[in-house]
Amino acid sequence: MKKVLVARPTFPDVIERLKQYFEVDLNPGDVLAQDEFARRLADKDGAFTAGEMVGAKELAGAPKLKVVANMAVGYNNFDMQAFDAHKVLGTNTPNVLNETTADFGWALMMAAARRITESEHFLRAGKWQKWSFDSFLGADVYGSTLGVIGMGRIGQALARRASGFNMRVIYHNRSRVAPEIEAELNAEYASKEDLLKRADHVVLVVPYSKESHHTIGAAELALMKPSATLTNIARGGIVDDAALIEALGEKRIAAAGIDVFEGEPNLHPGFLALENVVLTPHIASATESTRRAMANLAADNLIAALGEGPRAGNPPNPINPGVLAK
Ligand code: GLV
Repeated sequence: MKKVLVARPTFPDVIERLKQYFEVDLNPGDVLAQDEFARRLADKDGAFTAGEMVGAKELAGAPKLKVVANMAVGYNNFDMQAFDAHKVLGTNTPNVLNETTADFGWALMMAAARRITESEHFLRAGKWQKWSFDSFLGADVYGSTLGVIGMGRIGQALARRASGFNMRVIYHNRSRVAPEIEAELNAEYASKEDLLKRADHVVLVVPYSKESHHTIGAAELALMKPSATLTNIARGGIVDDAALIEALGEKRIAAAGIDVFEGEPNLHPGFLALENVVLTPHIASATESTRRAMANLAADNLIAALGEGPRAGNPPNPINPGVLAK
């Protein structure tokens, strides 16, 4: 029987599915230290990961390894050059999380705009004495301008929701999306600078890469309106967290909604001292049905890539399909 490592806990019925085909080495507890992860990967044919770093060192130490299935759409934890060099397939879980993640982007953006967590902290601290005309004045969402940076599947799902809020949608992306999609979303392409200057609410939905590192830093924050909000549901490192903390502290932008952090699960302590930021622990795709769909899709990929199940040899989401052809 082939052996697979499940590097962190997932739904028990998904583990049972994997056990129908494989000998499963399940880590039932905390995130494995990198050395321990590499040690347990060494004799495996496949692995199920959710953010573990997989690079040249880990792959070189696992000569039988054929596939690593990430339970996430983002796969910046994989060094794809090393995957190609070692002829190991990487897979991810696109699409199944689009709508849930877009919902969450809106929740975070609206919570930042309307100061939901800040006002809740005030209330919970017993500070609410009277209704006042100027308490927690926020920024309008209805009728404002949404700026989406990253117009992939999640960015499009996010933009689609803007029509009910009568918003103008501007977007920036490496390349323009097809004219039919622009027309359907009523979305106008803009340079990053133009978008930052015009948008009332900027939402980041770009995949992390060397090129997208610090897409938003001090210079970009300086272009934004003082009344604007910034929401990051993409990846830590897309925003320069220290620069954002400074801008929020000086009220150079109004507020932010942040689900992903540089160095998470650790976060820059400066965030905790600020009231004008809504902070969540990387939960944009966290609904029961979506997380189940992601776990099952990662399992489908692992099972198929190791030549088992109904799609044997034809995993649904290969990142580097060239490896399959070989
Ligand atoms: C979550 O962050 C994902 O990439 O799916």
